[in-house]
Order: sequence, then C-alpha cells, then structure tokens
Amino acid sequence: MRSSDEEIDIIRRTLEYSEAGSTHLEPDVLRNPVSHYADPMRLQREQSILFRQFPIIVGHTSDVAAPGQFFIHDETGVPILVTRTREGQVKAYINVCRHRGGRIVTQPKGQAATFSCPYHSWTYDLAGRLRGIPQAFGFDGLKKEEHGLVELPAFERFGLIWVRPSVSDSAMSIDAWLAPMAEQLASLDLASHHVFRAWTVELNMGWRIALEGFQESYHFCSAHKETACSAYLDNQSVFLDQYPHVRHAVPLADAVALRNQPESEWDYRANYMTQNYLFPCNFVQSMTDHVYIHSVIPTGPGTSVFKCMMLIPASPEEVAENAKAERYWEANYNVVRTVFGEDFAIGEGIQQGLATGVNEHFVIGKYEAGIQLAQRAIDDALEGRLVCPDVVSLQ
Ligand code: FES
Ligand SMILES: [Fe+2]
Repeated sequence: MRSSDEEIDIIRRTLEYSEAGSTHLEPDVLRNPVSHYADPMRLQREQSILFRQFPIIVGHTSDVAAPGQFFIHDETGVPILVTRTREGQVKAYINVCRHRGGRIVTQPKGQAATFSCPYHSWTYDLAGRLRGIPQAFGFDGLKKEEHGLVELPAFERFGLIWVRPSVSDSAMSIDAWLAPMAEQLASLDLASHHVFRAWTVELNMGWRIALEGFQESYHFCSAHKETACSAYLDNQSVFLDQYPHVRHAVPLADAVALRNQPESEWDYRANYMTQNYLFPCNFVQSMTDHVYIHSVIPTGPGTSVFKCMMLIPASPEEVAENAKAERYWEANYNVVRTVFGEDFAIGEGIQQGLATGVNEHFVIGKYEAGIQLAQRAIDDALEGRLVCPDVVSLQ
C-alpha cells in the first residue's frame, strides 16, 4: 500500500531513532497530579465537558446500514438512540419519550419503521417526529410538532458514527474537528469494513487510567512480555501531535529493515500498528490488515467502560465460507482480548492503590508522549481553551 508523506516521515524518524539508539522524546517529564485520576469533582467536570461537548464514536456505518436500522448507546449517561432516516441520513436522538419520559427503545439494536414508547405507545417516525398519540382527545391543544424526539448532533464520517451527547444550538463542524487526521482515516477505508466482533468491558478503574494504557509503548515489554512485546520495537513509538488528537505509530519488530528499501517502496501499514487517539476518549487502532475502534467512558468515580469493535475487510458471508479466514480473525480477536486484559489488570491495580496517597504525582516520562499530549488537550478543554468548532464560526 502507498504510504502518505506523513507516513514516510514517521518511517524516517523510526530509522533515525534506531541509528541514534534513541526514541521520540517530549521536552520535559510531566508531573501529573494524582487528583487528575481520583478527584470526584474533576470527574464531574470531565463528564459534563469532555463527554457532552465533543463527539464520541458510537458505532460503525454498518450498524445503521438501512433506513430504520437502529442501536442504542447508554454509556455516556445520556440514553442515545441512533438510526437512519428514509432519506438515508444518520440521526441520533435522546431516547426519552416526550410524554412522561419513558425509555422509548429498550432493545440494544434492531430494525424499525417507527419507535413506539412502551408506556402509553406514543409513536415517533425515523425522523423523530411525533406521529401517533393513542386516545388523543385527552391532549387538547397539544402541538405534535413541539413534541418530537430531541435530536443530538450525529455524523457519519470515515465509516464511523459519531455523536455529540448534548443538544446544541450551533452546528458542529465534524470535518474541521477531524481534519488533522482526515487523510489517515480516509486511507483506512473503514466504510468498506465489517464488524467482526463488538464487545464492552466494565472496568474498576477511572477512565484516565484506562485511557493511558493506549498512549505509550513503554509498557509493552513489561506488561505484555509474553504477548505484544516481541511483535514491536521496544519503546520506539513515534507520536504526531495532531492537536487535539494524537497519531501514535508503533513500529513492528522488523520495521528497521525498511532501511534496505527505497523510500518509494516503503509500506507504512505493513510495518506499523497505529494507536490513534481522537479526543477526548476514542481510539482508532489500525493493525496491518484490520482495525479496532475503541472508546473509554467514565461511569463513576473509579469506574469506566471500554467499548470496542473489531473491523475486518471481509464480510460475514466471506468469513462463514472460509474456515481458515475465520480462524485467522478469531485468533487475532483472542490475542487482542488477552492483551487488553493485561492492560486492564494493571489499571485496576493502579485504581486500588490510588487512595493510599503514596503518590501525589504520577511522573510521565518524555517518551510517554501520548499521555503528555492528551493531558494538554484535556486541560485545555476543561479550562475552556479547546472547544468543538462550529460551522458558523468557521465561515
Ligand atoms: S411516557 Fe412515553 S408514551 Fe407515555
Ligand atoms: Fe498495553
């Protein structure tokens, strides 16, 4: 596969670091106050800012392939219903009835022509309009058009479904938001992929602890000694600050052999795992031939949830017809579950030790750069310096 200029540059940097016996280094060690991980007041601010005002990846295009196909997403604390209208547009609604607040859709996913609340059967169409009120004579003067489902900003970009979990007066520009990563996301062609597995893990650790497991490769040869370690160059990640996102490129074990090839033949994808961080909590982790999409969402002090999709280039039918391919994808899935499980066991241990007060700060090394860069963006958002671009202000 042809590498982009950005990817050629990453490969050059990998070769330079390897020759110099060095690695990517930020200017300073970061002393991160432990309150960033443990303070319940800070968590409330994170939940109300990071997890309300910025887009979260909630699904893959194929989850709402046809009009009326739907799924729900509850982890942010906002009950979200995602569907596709008859005109083909992806929509997200707050899954709350406009009569007396019933939870309208209770099934995790499915196919519908309309959505009907189980409490008194008020019924909404795919565009969120209130269509039916049983025994409507009891609601004299009620304007149906004022009682449609409440819409959340939803976007279908790069094969993924993104939702901003709060109502907004201004139209957010998802394209401006994703622009620093657009070239790379487009090159993955995720819209043509299929969901091989999707899973959710409830974690006994604050969301920041879980997040940081994906933002450096310093831990690979310790925490993943028997699994991921041998697949990669030890602590040789290249980080690109694509503020507020981070491209985190992890060279595979024999990436240095690219030195013996002309640049015109360099194949980035075949030689790197890329652990992209998309602010505030999303990851697009591309492997040589498939991709994991994950998000880490806080559910309370010391708890979070990890949601992941494994996207592969083969359709379910193609996999079903080819036992060898099925074993191959299944083996990849099992490895990644094992590796993530190793990270989560470490993270839950960190959570258990937080209250001891042993550490006032965590020290983030110069090569733990993904953590440093994300911390900057998180601080900026919490202090109002980073906001989602809206369409009007860009004009
Ligand atoms: S609460 Fe939904 S129909 Fe009454
Ligand atoms: Fe890890």
